Amino acid sequence: MNGRLFSMSSDSSNTIESVLQEQRVFLPPKALADKARIGNLTVYKDMVQKAKDDPDSFWGDLARKELKWFKPFDRVLDWSNPPFARWFDGGQTNISFNCLDRHLETSRADKEALIWEGEPGDVRRFTYKELHLEVCRAANALKALGIGKGDLVALYMPMIPEAAIAMLACARIGAPHSVVFGGFSAEALRDRLIDGNAKAVITADGGFRKDKSVPLKPAVDAALGNGACPSVQSVLVVQRINTPTAMQSGRDHWWHELVTDQSSECSAEPMESEDRLFVLYTSGSTGKPKGVVHTTAGYNLWAHLTFKWIFDIREEDIYWCTADVGWITGHSYIVYGPLSNGATSVMYEGAPRPSKPGAFWELIQKHKISIFYTAPTAIRAFMKNGRSVPDQFDMSSLRLLGTVGEPINPEAWMWYREVIGGGLCPVIDTWWQTETGGVMISPLPGATPTKPGSATFPLPGIDADVVDANGNSVKPNEGGYLVIRDPWPGMMRTVHGNEQRFRESYWEYLRPSDGSYIYFAGDGARCDEDGYFWVMGRVDDVINVSGHRLGTMEIESALVSHPAVSEAAVVGRQDELKGESIVAFVTLESGREFNDQLVQDLRAHVGSEIGPIARPDLIKSSDALPKTRSGKIMRRILRALAAGKEVSGDTSTLEDRSVLDKLRG
Ligand code: WT7
Repeated sequence: MNGRLFSMSSDSSNTIESVLQEQRVFLPPKALADKARIGNLTVYKDMVQKAKDDPDSFWGDLARKELKWFKPFDRVLDWSNPPFARWFDGGQTNISFNCLDRHLETSRADKEALIWEGEPGDVRRFTYKELHLEVCRAANALKALGIGKGDLVALYMPMIPEAAIAMLACARIGAPHSVVFGGFSAEALRDRLIDGNAKAVITADGGFRKDKSVPLKPAVDAALGNGACPSVQSVLVVQRINTPTAMQSGRDHWWHELVTDQSSECSAEPMESEDRLFVLYTSGSTGKPKGVVHTTAGYNLWAHLTFKWIFDIREEDIYWCTADVGWITGHSYIVYGPLSNGATSVMYEGAPRPSKPGAFWELIQKHKISIFYTAPTAIRAFMKNGRSVPDQFDMSSLRLLGTVGEPINPEAWMWYREVIGGGLCPVIDTWWQTETGGVMISPLPGATPTKPGSATFPLPGIDADVVDANGNSVKPNEGGYLVIRDPWPGMMRTVHGNEQRFRESYWEYLRPSDGSYIYFAGDGARCDEDGYFWVMGRVDDVINVSGHRLGTMEIESALVSHPAVSEAAVVGRQDELKGESIVAFVTLESGREFNDQLVQDLRAHVGSEIGPIARPDLIKSSDALPKTRSGKIMRRILRALAAGKEVSGDTSTLEDRSVLDKLRG
């Protein structure tokens, strides 16, 4: 743990004072702190110290206390072969058991586990007992399709309860799931099915989006077409929009026909701690997304603990996270974290839209939601439309507000706190990544004084730091690489099918002189004089559009796969609403003309290669791109040009300096 934080927390009265000297610091509300599990910084500091002094008993005690085990583990952590960690070896458990069965023996059996609201306003509610039953049926249906332990099942679904049910059913029988965001294209789905060697796909006929029904199953047919994915033997289809749907006999099955008749008993498969739980693809610095692998026990513990800590969850809470199950936030904080804790999780199919700009606030009022977790991009959009919409709703049920996905600017943070939370709810800015499994840096609502725009301190057991290129800690307020020094239970275990990429992307980018392994996954940050972390954004070739992570190389390869494009370079540009927007520079094949039609074609092409979220906002044509003599595109220059700034810094490595003038002109 980082020395600056220690020096500040060793004398808590001083700490608060020094924090208060800063202009805007918000202390946890007293009523909340009095009831909280972690009710002040001393308790937090003790946990940090315990984790540092004796990590094995810190994590081991928590794992024994917070999870049910079919067989106790023999060893807490095996870090003898870094960067490949093994957690809780020898133990057997099952996350579906921890999310469902264990609550059935308690008063939670009849408590609501999931409240789902469809976009047209249809509502479905599941108690823990009911959800367990649905999951058992779905698990038996998967078995009937010949799916067993170790078989990868892809999910390509809208936000319907069956998405959560399918995830839990896969986990129950030990079949790792690979959820592919429903907004990705057939091409992107196909790549992921092939890479994961998926045996089955679970999908729906379609879903609702912005007051229209949108088909989904045709994209699955396209992905599987021409024998592209021979590993896929069956497709299970939920009927959601009742549209005529082509079903291939022998391969495709309706959920309502196959699942409904199954037995409602299916015991959870005992899984080894390090058995795979899921693969989730995310963008990196190359053209190909990586399959991030998470395993059973460590992920379960981390999703469980972080949910409990950051929201200080209480029995009576009604909790809502607005993410899609296609992202890690949906995995950890709609499904696994909340259910493992026996909480009530709300799931919403819709989004704010012209016909219903107040959709979120209406839901908060209707279900008396007490904890609301969303993304800065959404908050900025609401802010732009003014407070008159949220002011029409009674949101007094709220006690906590969370944000995730990108840095939140202090203005949006303040607006969120004042307008949505009525000035009463702590804002929990949570920094983490697909790779980290759960939240890493975040305020604790009962303990941490918050500063708008800072994710504050690392959670207990997380040794975060900001370092220079040699892995040495930088001084307070100096920018550097955000790293994690020690393994934690929720860490990703590898890149599916590519151990080398796992090593290189995350653990070998920065190698301190003492030879230790430190985890780095792409963010720049600074730590202020009080030990508060301020995440500045990606420092690699990844852009963050509305909290969606996109690799510039992926978009570039989509562009050059169009016959008119010979070369492409993609950069992010600051955007008031989306955080970043996508700017593409293209060089055309000779004889091609750059015009509006081509721009439209290129945007559509990227949409069908990756998905609509990857479509460039702006496409510029240029005869040449700025490159070094070794042929590397100098993105720094393009970023400056996209932002309308003067190109500063060293341009001496530029191969052809006249390119600059052409690009400016
Ligand atoms: C990247 C991870 C974690 C779930 C959603 C995104 C950025 C995430 C914050 C935050 C500043 C943040 C980082 C990170 N990010 N949360 N609170 N403050 N930046 O998951 O797709 O894996 O993206 O999102 O750049 O590396 P992801």
